[in-house]
This record gives sequence, structure tokens and C-alpha cells, in this order.
Amino acid sequence: MPDEAATTAFATRLAAHLQPGMVVYLRGNLGAGKTTMVRALLQALGYTGRVKSPTYTLVERYEAGGLHLRHFDLYRFRDAEEWEGSGFRDEFDGQNVCLVEWPEQATGLLPAADISFTFEILQDGREVLLHAYSDAGQKCLNAL
Ligand SMILES: Nc1ncnc2c1ncn2[C@@H]1O[C@H](COP(=O)(O)OP(=O)(O)O)[C@@H](O)[C@H]1O
Ligand SMILES: [Mg+2]
Repeated sequence: MPDEAATTAFATRLAAHLQPGMVVYLRGNLGAGKTTMVRALLQALGYTGRVKSPTYTLVERYEAGGLHLRHFDLYRFRDAEEWEGSGFRDEFDGQNVCLVEWPEQATGLLPAADISFTFEILQDGREVLLHAYSDAGQKCLNAL
């Protein structure tokens, strides 16, 4: 992804192949482009409102393109008790598309991913590694 436009173009292709219930992990350092990708994805699905980073709320909920989406940012997530109290488990209901930044903050609590994107900051742009962990995830990536 040489620039943000490339990330947007990629997110637009991805948007067409997301299936209900998919869990997508977004890995990479602060500023690597995780939220930018989610924002572009929602816009590609037709969402016209503001897409805020869920830095403090930990989750933002959307409906767009016939999908229910949940955008998590677990950077500030602390411990298992917070998970139990949060109701997050119920969000992974096989229907919601769950896009999760900082999944490593909730290892052992989060359901497994169908796909992960790992962002690396390069001198010019970003490198994004794609990985599928399920048949649904593999189909989605194959279609891109
Ligand atoms: N190729 C690229 N893809 C995505 N973002 C990029 C790219 N190049 C530069 N950027 C910039 O990097 C920043 C990424 O921020 P953000 O998406 O909030 O990161 P994260 O959610 O990973 O912390 C934005 O300011 C964006 O404009
Ligand atoms: Mg972010």
C-alpha cells in the first residue's frame, strides 16, 4: 500500500467479499493504518457518517451494506474481568462482522479470526500481510 489511496482501494475490494459473522484481526503499531482501513471499508459499504476510532469506547457499532459491523480497538483493554463485564462476547454472534484492532490485548478471550491483516510501517507507505484461518476467510482472500 504505497499510500492511503491504495489502502482505500484495497478496502473497497474487501468490502465486496465480507460475509456475515466474519472476524477480522487488524495488527500493527499505532499509526500503521488499521483504523484507516476500517473507515475505508465502512465508506465502501455506503456508510456516510463519521467513523471514530473506538480508542475509549473500545467498540463502535455500524450497519452498512446489509451488514452489521463491530469495530473494536482493544489497545486500552485491561483484563479478563473487563471482558466478562463488557458484553463483548455476545457481539461475536455469527452475524456481526467484527473488525478488531489490538487483538493481542484479549488473547484467550477473543474468538478466532477468519482473516488477519498485519500492517507494517515502511519508509514509503505500508506493507500489509494477509492471512486466512478458516475456509470463509480463505474464500474471501482468494476473491480479492
Ligand atoms: N498506505 C497507507 N495506509 C493507511 N494509512 C496511511 C498510509 N500511508 C499513510 N497513512 C496514514 O497513517 C495514519 C494511520 O492512522 P490510523 O489508521 O489511525 O492507524 P492505527 O489505527 O493503525 O493506529 C493515518 O494518518 C494515515 O493517513
Ligand atoms: Mg486505530
